[in-house]
Amino acid sequence: MTPDERFMARALDLAARGLGETNPNPVVGCVVVRGGRVVGEGLHRRAGGPHAEVIALQKAGARAKGATAYLTLEPCAHTGRTPPCAPLVAASGVARVVVAVGDPDPRVSGRGLRLLRAKGIRVTTGVLRDRAALLNERFLVAAARRRPFVLLKAGLSLDGRIATASGRSRWITDERQRRAARGLRRLFDAVAVGIGTVLADDPLLLPEPRVRRPFTRVVFDRRLRTPVGSRLVRSVSEGRVVVLTGPRPHPRRRAALEKAGVDVLPTRALTPRGALRALDGIASLMVEGGSALLGAFLHARVFDQVVLFRAPMLLGGRNSLSAFGGPDPKAPADGIPLAPGADRALIAQDPALGAVVGAGGEVWYPAVRVRRG
Ligand SMILES: NC(=O)c1ccc[n+]([C@@H]2O[C@H](COP(=O)([O-])OP(=O)(O)OC[C@H]3O[C@@H](n4cnc5c(N)ncnc54)[C@H](OP(=O)(O)O)[C@@H]3O)[C@@H](O)[C@H]2O)c1
Repeated sequence: MTPDERFMARALDLAARGLGETNPNPVVGCVVVRGGRVVGEGLHRRAGGPHAEVIALQKAGARAKGATAYLTLEPCAHTGRTPPCAPLVAASGVARVVVAVGDPDPRVSGRGLRLLRAKGIRVTTGVLRDRAALLNERFLVAAARRRPFVLLKAGLSLDGRIATASGRSRWITDERQRRAARGLRRLFDAVAVGIGTVLADDPLLLPEPRVRRPFTRVVFDRRLRTPVGSRLVRSVSEGRVVVLTGPRPHPRRRAALEKAGVDVLPTRALTPRGALRALDGIASLMVEGGSALLGAFLHARVFDQVVLFRAPMLLGGRNSLSAFGGPDPKAPADGIPLAPGADRALIAQDPALGAVVGAGGEVWYPAVRVRRG
């Protein structure tokens, strides 16, 4: 490891501590180094809170003069909830800035780096880029695609089934796998299910451990059948519940849900794309089933990543529910090709993702590896 890589690795470790709490912002870490010694470090802990650069430079104080600042993400050049960081970095007196990965947000992209260079600061980019990109994958992909990052998640038998024909799914996966899935929710702004799942399973859909920032649970429900007495609705104080419904919601059911604290969102077309447009302010969504909803997202090709928790069992049955329902493909060629080797359990092992992955035999098909046919 070069010294640059070593300090960037430290900045990435710091950034990773913010995972789950900075949404919808990215996680960011910063280390300020002078004469080979760390003189200040910081991380972005929550949206609306101080940025990593600000904390690290404050700690460094006068020692920032002539120092090198290691940043896991290009500093912002626009005013959001807090003032822009690039001018602050420039004013701190650092002589050099090392950045792991650029920010694709059009308000930032390249502007932060240009501003630093214009002030005579030496800028190096791309140090531990892949690790940094993986850490903020949801944020970076959403910014580049200009729609929320979408993960499709299912817990299934080896023959690809998520429930019996009568809709019973408890349990196919084991507790370790289910705990990992609840942990995965921490990385997302929101989770979504179809009304079929709410009626069959009465799920809670909260992350575990809980997050302190806002977390949204979304139900796709054209006829407003979400029961007011469901665990979802009863737990609305722990996380917002949004029911996406058709253009003319049933007035009485709507009033009852709204009275219980649910946001009922009439949507012209309850397609995956229409829903994503309606979900304003949500930058990452984990779609958790059931079969019809996962199938709809697959069919519409609206997803960036798939995580399948595969239980070591065969369920069988002609009518057991397949993980991805939706319209039937006409030929095998209509399937979605994944990268070579994807069938051989590509398990995400990145330590930066900490306890979130790898706990339960899950198979990840990450965004960068999903090739659209
Ligand atoms: N093992 C697992 O990981 C797992 C996870 C979740 C669920 N499950 C199981 O899956 C079963 C439920 O699956 P399901 O297929 O019956 O129901 P589902 O996918 O949960 O819900 C489907 C319903 O959602 C509504 N919907 C609204 N917009 C939609 C859209 N764009 N695309 C698709 N559906 C839309 C439709 O009802 P309206 O027309 O009334 O709106 C549709 O009938 C249950 O048995 C549950 O236990 C298993």
